Amino acid sequence: MDALDKFKRNQREGWAHFAPLELVTTAPAAQLVRFAGVKSGDGVLDVACGTGVVGVTAARLGARVTGLDLTPELLERARENAGIAKVAIDFHEGDVEKLPFDDNEFDVVVSQYGHMFAPRPDVAIAEMLRVLRPGGTIAFSTWPPEMLVGRIFALGASYAPAPPPGVSPPPQWGDPNIVRSRLGERVKDIRFDRATMIVPVLSPQHQRSTAERVGPMRKLVEKLSAADPAKLEAFRREYDALVGEYVHDNMIQQHYLMTRATKV
Ligand SMILES: C[S@@+](CC[C@H](N)C(=O)[O-])C[C@H]1O[C@@H](n2cnc3c(N)ncnc32)[C@H](O)[C@@H]1O
Repeated sequence: MDALDKFKRNQREGWAHFAPLELVTTAPAAQLVRFAGVKSGDGVLDVACGTGVVGVTAARLGARVTGLDLTPELLERARENAGIAKVAIDFHEGDVEKLPFDDNEFDVVVSQYGHMFAPRPDVAIAEMLRVLRPGGTIAFSTWPPEMLVGRIFALGASYAPAPPPGVSPPPQWGDPNIVRSRLGERVKDIRFDRATMIVPVLSPQHQRSTAERVGPMRKLVEKLSAADPAKLEAFRREYDALVGEYVHDNMIQQHYLMTRATKV
């Protein structure tokens, strides 16, 4: 297995327990679907669909939705969510860096905090634009590096082994200048907006205990707890101090970037 395959296998394992967080990604899903201008009858691809929050929202508007994700456990929950909502969605297990779809197949390609985790941004965006028809809309939500979630990813990375060469930090996708250069001449009419995810928490430690169970931090904590408990304690102290800056009135406001563009 090469280094990138191993990286993706780790990602898949790291996201496997993410389903409970659909409670907080559901409202932002509606923001993204509205921002993307999804209409009834549109063919929509939800990239890195996770539990299907964006896809189900689009399907409830009458769009014909396809969802793709790396993590089978989340696709299982996505299928359940589609069934509960009584919408038909075509879900696929797969990798955004190698989409199993034809050129120009979709009217809209969306991703909520999803494609940003592909290791090679140039490969992921080339694939997303390949399957989008000319005149179609690409839209995504991403975590900026200077905001809380971006800072948490940077902190986690500073305690984790270095990724394979060529892997870009996910929060780079939250920088409008980088987004512009990655989209390049293949799109026109780039628009940005900002929105906020509200996360209820009782304390910084309460937020961390959730993050340690449901996200990619789970693997980091498992590793440090076995290999270097003192380092784990240092990580937890830094984490709590960082999150503590953002807890007000028993909630955290997690600001994010939305990007929309038209394929030329
Ligand atoms: C933060 S979750 C977001 C899930 C969902 N879009 C939401 O808003 O709730 C990140 C998702 O990216 C998926 N993912 C990570 N790398 C991927 C890749 N290379 N191809 C497809 N999906 C990927 C994970 O499996 C996970 O479902």
